[in-house]
Amino acid sequence: MKKATVRGIEIAYEDVGAGPVVLCIHGFPLSHELWTPTAEKLSGRYRLIMPDLRGLGQSSITTNASMADHADDLAALLDAINVKGAVNVMALSMGGYIAFELFRRHPQRVQSLVLADTQAASDTAEKARGRRETAEKVLSQGVEFIVDAMLPNLFAPNASKVVVNQWRDIMLASDPHGVAAALHALADRIDSAETFSDIHVPTFVVVGELDAITPPDVARVMSDGIANASLQVIAGVGHMSPVEAPDEFTRIVGEFLDASM
Ligand code: MLT
Repeated sequence: MKKATVRGIEIAYEDVGAGPVVLCIHGFPLSHELWTPTAEKLSGRYRLIMPDLRGLGQSSITTNASMADHADDLAALLDAINVKGAVNVMALSMGGYIAFELFRRHPQRVQSLVLADTQAASDTAEKARGRRETAEKVLSQGVEFIVDAMLPNLFAPNASKVVVNQWRDIMLASDPHGVAAALHALADRIDSAETFSDIHVPTFVVVGELDAITPPDVARVMSDGIANASLQVIAGVGHMSPVEAPDEFTRIVGEFLDASM
């Protein structure tokens, strides 16, 4: 992977293809590999920039990793690699929370939005408390328990076992400090529904029909609330739609990107 030094840390990233830029923001506790199948299919006509977020994958581990830090890291990465102007932003789950923050902090960087398997709402107080407790447990016990607790919610029941196991291995490789920092960022994030009225860029909301973490109902809140948004539900798929249904995901996202150029 390539590495760029931004804001005093190293961000690892893949940069493939040629054409209009798509900044791809992965979820928790994942890595840029979430976008590998999408990049294989879209790199003939788009340039996909796929970072590992700080604390995850091969980027620097930091104890602080707020949604604002992630958004500023990504804007600084674009600066560091000399990408000018607005880009298409494609984001899944926690990546979507960061995409909203990127829009708030760096609106001139956002040309269109793909919000995949994500939501606008912040955590309830109870959920946030649970995340903070889990962060403590991750620091003392490691990441295995959270990975195994999350897996059944990440994938549809009939997802390929090969793909599920591949992601189990990727998540198990996560650094406990990075995972704990991300849990605090998730718990602390603000509600993004207030941002809807400011978003006028083309927006595509996509969600797996069986997404157990951010189900179609919460996806619909975004497509109803954002002016230029449309929604597509992918049948039979869970929260990891880019890797559970790579052909379908890439086809509909590609159609959206082509139409919004
Ligand atoms: C993710 O997939 O990024 C997280 O599960 C999102 C969340 O827990 O809210």
